[in-house]
Amino acid sequence: MILQDKMVIRSKRQLADRIMEMELEGELAAEITSPGQFVHIRVTDTYEPLLRRPISIASYDRDRRRMTIIFRAEGRGTQILAEKAVGISVDVLGPLGNGFPSGQPKPGETVLLVGGGIGVPPLYQLSKELTAAGVRVVHVLGFQTASAVFYEQEFSALGETRIVTADGTAGEKGFVTDSLRAHPVDFSVYYTCGPTPMLSAVQEAYAGKPGYLSFEQRMGCGIGACFACVCETKETDSRPYVKVCSDGPVFPAGVVAI
Ligand SMILES: Cc1cc2nc3c(=O)[nH]c(=O)nc-3n(C[C@H](O)[C@H](O)[C@H](O)COP(=O)(O)OP(=O)(O)OC[C@H]3O[C@@H](n4cnc5c(N)ncnc54)[C@H](O)[C@@H]3O)c2cc1C
Ligand code: FES
Repeated sequence: MILQDKMVIRSKRQLADRIMEMELEGELAAEITSPGQFVHIRVTDTYEPLLRRPISIASYDRDRRRMTIIFRAEGRGTQILAEKAVGISVDVLGPLGNGFPSGQPKPGETVLLVGGGIGVPPLYQLSKELTAAGVRVVHVLGFQTASAVFYEQEFSALGETRIVTADGTAGEKGFVTDSLRAHPVDFSVYYTCGPTPMLSAVQEAYAGKPGYLSFEQRMGCGIGACFACVCETKETDSRPYVKVCSDGPVFPAGVVAI
């Protein structure tokens, strides 16, 4: 069930350059059904900025009614959110969208998780759930530079973790696809979230393999009513377009035209 909740900020810390982690508590957290779902946050009580900001759920604990978000304080809305103090509440709509289907791989199988920048957070809960189910996870996480890297230890605690930076200041130098070409991984399913060119490159590299891609499209309503997030599909006859907010943000490989 989608709720509009006043969630209380229980903790907040800076993880990397402009990257904030925030733990929120409220009934909404009990409604989360899968890793990769997102929330839509109203950052002020006034009409400026008017639109909510979509942010992925990085991890959750339904029993404790808590969830963690990780976001880059960049534009006006996310900067306002980053400045909020621990103890106050924020207006959160969610959980929204359809997340990653974590139940598919069998125990003992290896899966590949590929994240880019601010697309890394939703892969964390996914990895936790896959690992708990006995699945072996390999993470390949791409960032611009060393100061933008976050959650390396958290992912490493779950499985093999490769850090890749565009400028080579941390981990391997290059893009995630360079690392995957140089050191191939034998896996059954891949899951990826990040900038569209990265999603496209990963999908191309593993054409024919089962995979799931999470898209970050600009959004208005977040609930399927405004058509702001429409994307064309490759299924032009049966389903020419999808709404990222309500049909996604996660789609099987080969569905969205990128
Ligand atoms: C499903 C989903 C999950 C996301 N998860 C995260 C996350 O976990 N962490 C994180 O840092 N960012 C995430 N994003 C991107 C994030 O929503 C935008 O970066 C953020 O809304 C920009 O807001 P701003 O106030 O910083 O920028 P502004 O420039 O003030 O934003 C202006 C408008 O553009 C929209 N917008 C700008 N960039 C994007 C973008 N890349 N994607 C979608 N809308 C955008 C904003 O929502 C807002 O309506 C996600 C986006 C989507 C769609
Ligand atoms: S954001 Fe309004 S329909 Fe998707």
